[in-house]
Amino acid sequence: MKIICAEDYADMSCKAADLLSEQIILKSDSILGLATGGTVLGIYNHLIQQYQKKHIDFAQIRTVNLDEYTGLSPDDKNSYHWYMKQNFFSHVNLDPSNCYLPDGRAESPAEECSRYEQLIASLGGIDLQLLGLGHNGHIGFNEPGTGFDEKTHLVTLSESTRQANSRFFPAENDIPKQAITMGIKSIMKARRILLCVSGAAKAEILQQVLFGPVTPKIPGSILQMHPDVTVIADMAACSCLPEEYRI
Ligand code: F6R
Repeated sequence: MKIICAEDYADMSCKAADLLSEQIILKSDSILGLATGGTVLGIYNHLIQQYQKKHIDFAQIRTVNLDEYTGLSPDDKNSYHWYMKQNFFSHVNLDPSNCYLPDGRAESPAEECSRYEQLIASLGGIDLQLLGLGHNGHIGFNEPGTGFDEKTHLVTLSESTRQANSRFFPAENDIPKQAITMGIKSIMKARRILLCVSGAAKAEILQQVLFGPVTPKIPGSILQMHPDVTVIADMAACSCLPEEYRI
């Protein structure tokens, strides 16, 4: 595992975007696993700038997102379909038919989960998976207690995750209670993983994820077992890590 301590959020975003750009340049038909949320917004901004400068080309890239809330249509401003379109897809030359997210409105979530898992396999698996980290150690929407052998599945979001995401919704009742998420097993199959973490509020959980016991109680701790993980975290998020990982 490679741990990179960035100066601040801007530096973290820049370093993470550089790693993604390198992947795109070296393999122009890469399958990228993408995430939503606040942490990755700066990364998408940098990638858009790199695209505008013609440094990277998304023509052959395909993307698979980690998760989607259930019950929201792709046009719902709170859906992750909408988030991705607004913050990334519509600003680069990604072919919309090459961008995949779980269908949160599927009549049978169970069937949608297995369809999504098969879709990832049919693409040949994920070359590089981008991850943020939840305050409770979740990756994707794999909440504490999720089995490490779970594939894409339906989850009931924990109260703490709903609270953390309440900033994106007009009222508490609007926050969905369930989501479809790639499972830990799906994430661990990615050939490379990039975990990005920002802010002092995640310093303790990052320390547990990287240096604590590998346990379903801290879902992100499984990343210690993956052969190719890069962690890029800002100084505030690194503040509980051993001294050699801080700047
Ligand atoms: C988003 C996702 C989540 C977030 C995590 C951090 O697709 O799967 O695991 O990455 O909740 O969210 P932020 O960056 O908003 O703190």
